[in-house]
Amino acid sequence: MHKVIFDTDPGIDDAMALLFLHRHPDVDLIGVTTVFGNAPLDITTRNALFLKQQWGMTAPVAKGAGVTFDPSRPEGHWPTFIHGEDGLGNIGVPEEIDLPLDPRPAHHFIIDTVKENPGEVTLIAVGRMTNLALALREDPDFAALVKNVVIMGGAFDINGNVSPAAEANIHGDPEAADLVFTAPWRVTVVGLDVTTRTVMTAKFMDEMAKEGGAPVQLLSDLSQFYIEFYTQRTGDGMVVHDACACVYLTNPELFQTRSGAVRVVCGGIADGQTIQKPDGVGFPPGNWDGHPSQLVCTDIEPERVLSVIRSAV
Ligand code: BDR
Ligand code: CA
Repeated sequence: MHKVIFDTDPGIDDAMALLFLHRHPDVDLIGVTTVFGNAPLDITTRNALFLKQQWGMTAPVAKGAGVTFDPSRPEGHWPTFIHGEDGLGNIGVPEEIDLPLDPRPAHHFIIDTVKENPGEVTLIAVGRMTNLALALREDPDFAALVKNVVIMGGAFDINGNVSPAAEANIHGDPEAADLVFTAPWRVTVVGLDVTTRTVMTAKFMDEMAKEGGAPVQLLSDLSQFYIEFYTQRTGDGMVVHDACACVYLTNPELFQTRSGAVRVVCGGIADGQTIQKPDGVGFPPGNWDGHPSQLVCTDIEPERVLSVIRSAV
């Protein structure tokens, strides 16, 4: 059984990933932590509570960071054209959800929960890495107690999606991401190199909703806005970024990885670019030396990943 804390900015593809973790028989979802990204923090947190209520989830929800790790960074824009004004495809999520939040800020919740379950917890982060970075700053030693970190973010051998260089989750808080990649824990990075190849058609979603009943019907309803956006770009359907990171947890055999230290460009025209120095490739001494090797996903079996998602939800 995989014990998971899910750090997220729901977000439509985040919602799919959350339902996957909630329904997968080998996953014990022990906490959900929220971060700004696809919408402002109050909205992503409200959305996490809404999904918890609709899907009858028991995992506590803790509210996290609403601004970047370096608070002097200018505020970014909200991608309402991808996720809708309400972050969930404009389905009309109520303003207030009558469910309590965990009283702790997300980074305290993460540290406490990891310490209560030493060596057992996988952190899956699919938004800005701000909460993880705040936890590392507060208690650097807790990293050694984390089993694994899996993140959706970055673009290594292809262009980004907010600039030619950078992917949204990293670009939204580059300093946080650089701290996460260089911390003494094992990170697997599921980036655009593989997620953009994992495209779910509207027909696939419809069929999944018919099989999965009300919870998947809700997922399908809130995904329509996102499907429309991505179908115009891919011609085929929606890119299921965040759920790919969750499938990596349960089915790593569906991915190829490359090992090496990862750094993030912080500032300048390539702000938020992720760059890996593959192990075994010689360079003069530089910024990648002395940092842990992390795993970057370079290949994926998209059809099998989609069928894993379908079976779980
Ligand atoms: C990432 O950015 C967000 O829009 C998605 O939820 C995903 O986590 C893709 O770049
Ligand atoms: Ca996300």
